[in-house]
Amino acid sequence: MSIGKRTLLVTGAAGHLGRRIVELLLAQHGTAVSGTRVIAGSRDPAKLADLAAKGAETRRVDFDDPDLAQAFAGVDRLLIVSTDALDRPGRRLAQHKAAIAAAVKAGVRHLVYTSMPNPEPGSPIPFAPDHYGTEQALAASGLGWTVLRNAWYAENLLASLPHALASGHWYSAAGDGRVTHVTREDCARAAAAALASQDSGNHRYDITGPEALTTAEIAALASSVLGRPLQVIPVSEAQLEEGLKAAGVPAFFAPVLASFDTNTRAGRIDIVSDAVKTLTGQAPQSLRDFFSANRALFLPA
Ligand SMILES: NC(=O)c1ccc[n+]([C@@H]2O[C@H](COP(=O)([O-])OP(=O)(O)OC[C@H]3O[C@@H](n4cnc5c(N)ncnc54)[C@H](OP(=O)(O)O)[C@@H]3O)[C@@H](O)[C@H]2O)c1
Repeated sequence: MSIGKRTLLVTGAAGHLGRRIVELLLAQHGTAVSGTRVIAGSRDPAKLADLAAKGAETRRVDFDDPDLAQAFAGVDRLLIVSTDALDRPGRRLAQHKAAIAAAVKAGVRHLVYTSMPNPEPGSPIPFAPDHYGTEQALAASGLGWTVLRNAWYAENLLASLPHALASGHWYSAAGDGRVTHVTREDCARAAAAALASQDSGNHRYDITGPEALTTAEIAALASSVLGRPLQVIPVSEAQLEEGLKAAGVPAFFAPVLASFDTNTRAGRIDIVSDAVKTLTGQAPQSLRDFFSANRALFLPA
């Protein structure tokens, strides 16, 4: 393999993160310039027409497919975007293990994986074992690897804060725990850089924004940038879970969301790293700037 003649494949390219990673790779390593092949993989390649128009090759990639190794043929460096299969415990880990085994079979040299902060046993987050198990499988695979432990997306706040801002009340079980958010765009930039890197060593990065804030600090920031009063109302995790269900969150997902606050209260996502800047050369966006840039989404008419 000579420099500039590599084949990179991103799975989950029809998803938010995967699609953006492919766009960044095409913009930075356009096939005509560097000779780097960029392949976008998805369960449904018909959803990748926009990426194909920009120069990506497309392939069908489904971790549930028994012939998955075919999809990774000729690939040097592979990015596995963790799937969204949270409906059944163990399903997502089985998918990721199948993807790693297929990568080994296909002769992939280096695998990049999107994990979460502190997934080790003891995490209150129900899906943490998926990430921990995947990291363990990767370490045992014999492949080179880069693990990107993505902090919570700032975009997650778009699901909860608009309602809180509308009512003026933010129900939280996170206590004084600090949480680091990172924009999905910064996760995509870091992942594109890690995949396109010439570095074949094993690395694990915490992909975070620039600051860890308490819920009260986030509320004060949102209030000051968006110009609405917002009071944090402390509740227990059980109360939060009931409130989420009453607000229409599906029964299987309410405990997952509530566990995020337990995780924060336990200090398990109080992590700030310089990995985004190290990987990309550009500092991550602050929550203040994210609120400013997305004002209309936080304050829908
Ligand atoms: N850090 C955070 O706060 C946070 C928040 C939400 C999610 N996540 C995790 O990060 C991942 C990417 O985030 P996102 O915003 O892009 O989520 P998303 O838009 O919901 O994308 C879900 C992803 O799962 C992939 N997928 C589902 N089933 C698959 C299968 N059988 N085989 C291969 N891929 C499969 C989809 O790929 P195709 O549709 O292209 O096949 C798609 O890329 C999520 O899947 C989730 O694991 C992290």
